[in-house]
Amino acid sequence: MAIRNIREFGDPVLNKVCKEVTEVTPRIRELIEDMLDTMYAANGVGLAAPQVGILKRIAVIDTTGEDPYILINPRIIEESGEQTGSEGCLSYPGKAGTVTRPEYVKCTAFDVEMKEFTFEAEGLLARAVCHELGHLDGHLYTEYVEGDVYEVKYAEEED
Ligand code: NI
Repeated sequence: MAIRNIREFGDPVLNKVCKEVTEVTPRIRELIEDMLDTMYAANGVGLAAPQVGILKRIAVIDTTGEDPYILINPRIIEESGEQTGSEGCLSYPGKAGTVTRPEYVKCTAFDVEMKEFTFEAEGLLARAVCHELGHLDGHLYTEYVEGDVYEVKYAEEED
């Protein structure tokens, strides 16, 4: 368990196409654990492997803080509708932009046992799926931004 360094926009690793995972080795399990730790530590809702410098088709997503999706070799097999809203990226801290995404997606992916599963996502989860899968092909949300990227002010954390 460790928090990894998040690569930021401008790092060429973020523009590369990632390779399929053929086997979940102990190193890949460790990578996934570290990606979860890194995402939660940064208060993010999703993180893709290239954001920690690893060019493999792995993403983690948790929009509820309850139960993360661990997606290996994920693919969108169906999409419909449209949502327009604010989107940011842990690789571009303090910024956000308006992006239109499908309102609904259906995906397949493999879990850590390399069992294939299918799930449906709507709203924020659908947006996160589209965003993270984009990272696996070297795409960043700024390619799709309508208007300008703007500064986001985060509320002070209370404890
Ligand atoms: Ni991102």
